[in-house]
Formats: sequence, structure tokens, C-alpha cells
Amino acid sequence: MCGIIAYTGKQPVLPILLDGLKRLEYRGYDSTGISIVSRKKIKTVKAAGKLNMLESKINGPITGGCGIGHTRWATHGAPTDENAHPHTDPSNRFAIVHNGIIENVDALKKLLGKEAVYSSQTDSEVLAHLLALQPGDLLHAVREVLAMVVGTYGLAVIDQQHPDTIVVARNGSPLILGIGENEMLAASDMSALSRHTNQAVHLDDGEIAKLSPQGFEVIRMDSSVANKEAITLNNQNANYDRGGHPHYLYKEIIDQPDTVQQTLSGRLDDRFSTAHLGGLNLEARDLIGVKRITILGCGSALYAGMAGANMIESLARIPVTAEAAAEFRYRNPVIEQDTLYIVVSQSGETFDTLAALREVRRKGGFVLGIVNSVGSTIAREVDGGIYMHAGPEVSVASTKAYTSMLIAFALLALLLGRSRDVSPQQGSRLIADLKQLPDNIRSVLAMEPEIAKLADKYKKSQSAFFIGRTNGFPIALEGAQKLKEISYIHAEAYPASELKHGPLALVTGKTPCVVVLPNDDLLPKSISSMEEIKARGGPVIALTSAAQTDEDRIDALADDVIRVPDADVLTLSAVMGVALQLFAYHSALSLGRDVDQPRNLAKSVTVE
Ligand code: G6P
Repeated sequence: MCGIIAYTGKQPVLPILLDGLKRLEYRGYDSTGISIVSRKKIKTVKAAGKLNMLESKINGPITGGCGIGHTRWATHGAPTDENAHPHTDPSNRFAIVHNGIIENVDALKKLLGKEAVYSSQTDSEVLAHLLALQPGDLLHAVREVLAMVVGTYGLAVIDQQHPDTIVVARNGSPLILGIGENEMLAASDMSALSRHTNQAVHLDDGEIAKLSPQGFEVIRMDSSVANKEAITLNNQNANYDRGGHPHYLYKEIIDQPDTVQQTLSGRLDDRFSTAHLGGLNLEARDLIGVKRITILGCGSALYAGMAGANMIESLARIPVTAEAAAEFRYRNPVIEQDTLYIVVSQSGETFDTLAALREVRRKGGFVLGIVNSVGSTIAREVDGGIYMHAGPEVSVASTKAYTSMLIAFALLALLLGRSRDVSPQQGSRLIADLKQLPDNIRSVLAMEPEIAKLADKYKKSQSAFFIGRTNGFPIALEGAQKLKEISYIHAEAYPASELKHGPLALVTGKTPCVVVLPNDDLLPKSISSMEEIKARGGPVIALTSAAQTDEDRIDALADDVIRVPDADVLTLSAVMGVALQLFAYHSALSLGRDVDQPRNLAKSVTVE
């Protein structure tokens, strides 16, 4: 949540900060601001609303080569001009941007006394006030202040008395340094750095760095020096180009045949009809020792985990549960040696998922990560894992990353299955189906015009239900999630079997129900659920992978049918998921919503 960008060097800093904020806007977009050391004074401009509000407030160039910028997702204080970052101390010597939460803000305000006058309702402003009271150079002043803080932070500070110095610090909120030629940058994620440099350094929790055009130094909270190694980043600029499409979300949906291919690439082993996953750090003997699996994630990552649980359980016959990471970590979970823990996260920075990972590892559990963002905190802290290689996802609602999570689970299920009861012949069939997936997704994408018509037909609905059984249920959950996130149509998912235990009371002629109907043993039962809805006058949209037959009950009962290619347990969620992504996208579009940056949400939730 919240994005930080900082630059010091020879170039004019203003356009660099604005470009960085554009790339970070997905992290939060309720207000933005910048501070620049300009002619020995700190000049700050901030504005509620999106980046264009800030741009329109900046009258003319602000000269200077050192500055900080912030895009906010409000936690303390409403999204107003005053609460936007940067915050300054009363004498305007220091400006700070902060990502995270200061938990002991009341105690710190007490320390500052009654006479302190604040110009915002944020917890962050207190940091600027405390800095003004510290003697010594900026690096040690920041360290002194942070020693008083209980909470989380990614922090960047500028000081009018040290006009080309920036101090940044990290505890719980990501911060990455970018090393340029006679310039240094820092940002909450690589997307804001990759245009300037391919050399980066990840700060770890408890580290503070001083940046100047000549380079950087890093210390820990006990003042000891931390020697950090730079890593080389891949150039991922192409992912930040919408490629002529109206929205990132659309581009990310239609890119999926390619991104799925990237996730699969080099990982299908035809010779032994299994998957090759080099990053797991598990030997064949470890694989057969796994007695249970617990999958942890948040939002769409959790729903991908639920689908993954079904894949693994059905192929490997290992009991698997998927649980919301935040709930898991707070119930003092029992951690077992023979349980494999898997954390799933696109960003690799989601606070609750990271906290769950740390809780498991603290208790001695072995944790794998399914992560998209290379070098992210979760990727660095797990014992092994599978990178999704889906490329950066910019739109807030997850699409291509969600699908690549499913593929990572499919590969793991194949590997675990083949280390147990799945025969080489069945393994080959599963591999053939996985290879077919990009084409199957292309077939679904080709259905866009009819799905768009459906979205238009149902766009006035106040509420919608999504139902499915076993393998169909996580698909229903993600379908409802997509629709509510970006169209704001109230959408809930239920196991189809639960319909009659409550939700049926709400079914009327105005509540469309999307019924997920995989071509599996439960198909007749799911068709009965359609009957129950039709008997109450509810419109039914059938999403099915069953082929059409002459006396087709699905076509006879449903008001509308989305028929996708048949798929097995490993690829079903991906194929059907793409159809529901298109449905949500077109619903949002026809309602005129901001599809890439839906209200109240942020892409990377790095606070609790
Ligand atoms: C936020 C996003 C969701 C995402 C979830 C988990 O809530 O809006 O789209 O599924 O975080 O994110 P992660 O990066 O851990 O996959």
C-alpha cells in the first residue's frame, strides 16, 4: 500500500518523481505528493485524488535534483490534500514520505508535547516533527527517531541542510534502492526503477540507507554496517505499456495465452511425464514424505490456492487445505514437520501472507512460495518455490497472475501426483492438456463479443450469485470477486449445495446466478441447482465445459450459456476463469467504472 519514489542525481527530479508515481499508482491512488529540495528550500506540492490532480497543481517546473514522492492509500486520516504525503516538520527543514503504520503514534505525540501543532490527521507526520529534534547527521537522526517507533515503515526523508542526500529505511514495507550513474533512486517496487537502472539492492527490515549521487551506505538499527549486494533486474518496461489497449486489465486478460506459456516454459518433463520444478529445494524422498499441505494467501491468491488444493488432493491424494493467511497466523496454528506449507502471492509483499510465512518458519515449518514478483520479500524468505513468470501485473484486479498461480499449482500437483499414484500414461494426458491450455484460452478470448453482450444484458443487476461444486466452487469465488471488485455489482459465491440453505431466499427475477458446470461427475447435481434457481424465476448464466448434446438440459434451462473448451482438473479453473474475467471487465466497462483502479482497493496490501 502506498508507493514511495526518491531520486538524487544530476537530472531534473520532478519528471522522474511524476513518472515513478505513475508506475506506483496501482499501490494506492487516493492522494499524491512530492517534495523537492529546490534552491536550498523544500518545495512540497500535494493533492487529494489521482496523479493528474497533482500534475495540474504543479504550476511550472520545480528545479532541483533531489526529491521524494508518494502515492497514498489512506489508513490514518481521510484522503485530503493535508493528509497526502510528504509531511514536513514545522520549520520545513525535513520532508518525509511513509508507507506503513506507526502504532505508538499517541505515545510519540505525548513526547512531542501539547504545543506541537500538526497539519494533518496522519500518524506519519509525527516522524517529521521528531526528526526536527534530533542533532547529528541525517542518517543517525533518522535512526534515533526510528528507535522510538513501534510499527511498520518504508520511509524516505530529505533535509534542506543536506540538499543532495536522501535517507530511506525499511521495516515491514518494501523498499528497493536503484543504482544509476551518478544518481541513486529508491522505490517501493522495481516498476518505478526499471526505466533508470537495472542494478538494484533490496533493503531488509531494520536497515537504513543514506543515498547521494555518489552512492549509498546501509546501516542497521544498532548502527552496524550492512554490506549489501546489488542484483541485476530484467528489463520489464514493456509490461508498463498498455500496448494500445484501453486498460491494463484488458491487456493482462488477453496476454494470458503467452503468460501461461511463460509459467509452463521448461517445466514439463515429457520423458518422465511429470513436472520439473527446480526451485522447490525438495528431493524425491522429501516429496513422498509430505503428509499434508496447507496453502495460505489473500484475495485472488487464496482462491487460486483453493483451486490448487483440489488439484493436488485429487491427483496426489494428500489432504490439502487452503486458508486466508491473516486468519491462519492469528489462530496460533499447529505447525507439523510432515506438512508442506505453501504461500501464494503475486506481489510477494502482502503483509498478512508474509506474516503467516514468518509464523510458520519461526515454528520450524518448511514453506514454499508461489510468487510472481522476483526478489520480493516473500520470494526471499521462503525455503523454496515456484516463480510464476507472468510479468508485472499493473491492474489492481488480478487476472494473468491469478491464472499463472493456477498453473504453478497444476505443475506441483502433477509432480506430487507422479511421485505417488499417477501413472505415466495419466501424466502424459495431463501434460497434453497443459500444453493445450494456451489455445483453449485463445478460444475463450474469441468469445469476447458474446460475453460482452451478456455483461451488457445483466449490468443493471444490483446483486448476482455465483455457484459451483467442488472444483467449480473456487471458480465461482474468483468470478464473484472479479465482478464485485471492478463493476461494484454485489456478487457472492456459494457452493451450489448451500444454495437451498439460505441464499435461495434472495433469488428473484432480478438476481442473475452464474452456475459453474464443469463436465464432471457432479454435473447432474449442478443441473439440479439450476432447476432450483429457475423455479424461483432467477436468470441463470451457465458456464460450462460440457459439450452441447441434442437433448441438452443445460441449454434448455439456462437463460444464457457460456460454453468453454472441455478441460481436466488442472486447467479447468484457468479456462473458465478467463471467461469470468471478460464478463467482469465488460460489466465494469458498460457501467463506466475505473477498471484499472477500482475504488477503495490497492494492488499490494502491505499493511495489516
Ligand atoms: C489485494 C489485491 C488482490 C490480490 C490480493 C493479494 O487485495 O487487490 O487482487 O489478490 O491483494 O495480493 P498478492 O500480491 O499477495 O497476490
